[in-house]
Amino acid sequence: MNARAPSIETLAPDTVSDSVQVQSFAVEYAYPVVFTRHAFDPINTHLLDVLRRREAHKRHRVAVFIDGGVAQALPNLLGQIQAYFGAHAEHIELVGEAVILQGGEDCKNDPELISKLLKILSDKAIDRHSYALAIGGGAILDAVGYAAAIFHRGVRHIRFPTTVLGQDDSGVGVKNAVNWLGLKNLVGTFAPPWAVINDGVFIDSLPEREKRCGMSEAVKVSLIRDGTFFTWLENNVQALARFETVPLSYLIKRSAQIHMNQIALGGDPFESGSARPLDYGHWVAHKLERMTVQHELSHGEAVAIGIALDAHYSVLAGLLPAGEDLRVHRLLTSLGFKLWNNQLETRNAKGQLAVLQGLADFREHLGGELTITLLAGIGKGIEVHEINDTWVTESIAWLKQHL
Ligand SMILES: NC(=O)c1ccc[n+]([C@@H]2O[C@H](COP(=O)([O-])OP(=O)(O)OC[C@H]3O[C@@H](n4cnc5c(N)ncnc54)[C@H](O)[C@@H]3O)[C@@H](O)[C@H]2O)c1
Ligand SMILES: [Zn+2]
Repeated sequence: MNARAPSIETLAPDTVSDSVQVQSFAVEYAYPVVFTRHAFDPINTHLLDVLRRREAHKRHRVAVFIDGGVAQALPNLLGQIQAYFGAHAEHIELVGEAVILQGGEDCKNDPELISKLLKILSDKAIDRHSYALAIGGGAILDAVGYAAAIFHRGVRHIRFPTTVLGQDDSGVGVKNAVNWLGLKNLVGTFAPPWAVINDGVFIDSLPEREKRCGMSEAVKVSLIRDGTFFTWLENNVQALARFETVPLSYLIKRSAQIHMNQIALGGDPFESGSARPLDYGHWVAHKLERMTVQHELSHGEAVAIGIALDAHYSVLAGLLPAGEDLRVHRLLTSLGFKLWNNQLETRNAKGQLAVLQGLADFREHLGGELTITLLAGIGKGIEVHEINDTWVTESIAWLKQHL
């Protein structure tokens, strides 16, 4: 027994009464987001640097997971990764073979995937000082990121996003998730990555539709945070619509920076409040994505529709000057988005627009009161707590008129 501990007899009477002791500490997160090309060229040291950014003296073990779509589009990738680790073998070790996983949303729907990933991490003896590195689209990053976050209560996770959406939005953030019980992103964590490496070479091999999809997220952040960026998008729309490398790289970088600023400076990185400003245009988008079958609308395509609809709604609500909605519509159309889907007019058994259920879903996901971001100007988001059904109906009619 500890000699200094008081005996029962000497305890003060208040020792046994109720007490509340507030535990409080802050944890700082900092992770590099690298923009580069040819990250697996042995002379490119970004990956080496992030792996060695702590404990530079030791040899670092890395389990690598690759999106099957990426491996197929870039048949030399596996060899390049092996050569990279071989060239820097003194400092880093590729543990076993890189694991190829089926990419796209199906991986997040696969109920077996997370246990399979945990088994692989265990077989490779990945510990809390070694790494799970994922190369792929947002879906693969979400799934591997989730497995890495729960394995040993969290191992270091490095992301190589390979889509425009991954590089300009999801990959630089702090979330991961898989779908469960048929519900999107039902299970996941907030877990900042160890590092993010955005390699432009992956974008070159992406199908055009995927390239376009990620651009709607850049339009979104320009509208809520940076009017100058929106004007830049307008001025460069023809080159962007041709997917030219230089403007597309700038679009990705600027959009990623704005997303990062929102997470770091927005005051709610782990989304405990009711607002999700980065989800401008998303209440419609999430619902439309679910209503259309067989991935007819991708996330980015649905977001483009949601952005345009909420721009016109913002005009009807007296928040955005008339005519600015047309600028938004023109930009998105010029980028190649089709701002219409017949599901917008679907009504439920009670005769209500089915898409309006998206508002209830949004509120339910966040908890608390309904909070929707609208526009008070180009580059200026504003939060509202009520959405008027009549104006939504009028906004849908406006989209149909402008087909
Ligand atoms: N965690 C977050 O904060 C966050 C935010 C937004 C979206 N997301 C998630 O991201 C997912 C969507 O991600 P996405 O749009 O990147 O698409 P995706 O991951 O579904 O990939 C789309 C397709 O492209 C292929 N692909 C990926 N990169 C390629 C490349 N370079 N070359 C050739 N093919 C390639 C994939 O194999 C797949 O078939 C959704 O599940 C969404 O929920 C997550
Ligand atoms: Zn989105």
